[in-house]
Amino acid sequence: MSGATARAGANVALVKYWGKRDEERNLPAVGSISITLSDLLATARVGMGKEGPRFRSHGVPVSGVAADRMAHYLDWIAGRLGAGAERLCVDVEAGFPVGAGLASSAAIYCATAAASAAAVGASIDRAELSRLARVGSGSAARSVFGGWVEWHRGTREDGEDSGAEQLLPVADWPVALVVAVVHDGPKEVPSRDAMRHVSRTSPLYDGWIEAQEEDLESMRSAIAARDFGAVGRLAEENCLRMHATTFAARPPVFFWLPVTLAVMQAVRQLRADGCEAYFTIDAGPQVKVLCSPERVDRVAGALAGIPGVVRVLRSGLGSGVEILDGSVPWK
Ligand code: DP6
Repeated sequence: MSGATARAGANVALVKYWGKRDEERNLPAVGSISITLSDLLATARVGMGKEGPRFRSHGVPVSGVAADRMAHYLDWIAGRLGAGAERLCVDVEAGFPVGAGLASSAAIYCATAAASAAAVGASIDRAELSRLARVGSGSAARSVFGGWVEWHRGTREDGEDSGAEQLLPVADWPVALVVAVVHDGPKEVPSRDAMRHVSRTSPLYDGWIEAQEEDLESMRSAIAARDFGAVGRLAEENCLRMHATTFAARPPVFFWLPVTLAVMQAVRQLRADGCEAYFTIDAGPQVKVLCSPERVDRVAGALAGIPGVVRVLRSGLGSGVEILDGSVPWK
């Protein structure tokens, strides 16, 4: 086969992945729980060729660190899939801003892993695909599955027990997400670098690790009980604890802008006014707001009216990575 295309959605962690136990294999220091999105999508077309750029975005060659990272990953995954002699190349298209704290690397690396497997004719299941995607970008492990997803920390040195699994499919509990984009353009510090710096220098990092297991357990129970209030409260607390580790790093890392706080405040006001909504923030200034599908219009309207909010994106939950052409590796 000459190539294959896959499409994956970004995901948003409600209990965050923050810190690694092994940088080489990209093994997380903690487990995490996320929702996969239906409307923030990336496609990856993987082909083979002896020459030419390895990594393109919308047909345009990518250079620098991002290109080196992708080329390294393509060689690694070809080797793992038993196609080490193939020189894989990828062209990705994201329907949303890349590198801006919108989990683009999760969607891009997940789609690339799936398209690579399809392109070389590998036969693997989704659990295996999740472990392969993880090596490209940790959060990509979760985008393999739809709906509500948990990525396990695992304890094995080889990482074979550190992949994601689905907790609930979309149809079992469809919620919605509204993203307040408060800054266009790339974020100042990539999450990978921030995570490394914070884990090495923040005195609050050990406390973060210690508290995570309890959050994971509470979140699993809240999801199983479809307790929206508990899910939202836990997501806010976990996000704030993650960001506390960044403020305490030496030197500190600030992902927030003044408008980030204004959006958080607006979400609290919405709640006070009877509109249940909860925020979470990743390694960037954008604010992601969880609400029920019936409340999307009201939440989106309130956020769009805040000075400094550039744009508001809406999404439902998606059903995980798909192969658009080529043979489906996990059938
Ligand atoms: C803050 O998955 O981008 O969004 O594994 O180094 O590629 P690498 O990191 P990445 O980190 C995401 C961190 C986060 C929290 C989360 O998505 O769980």
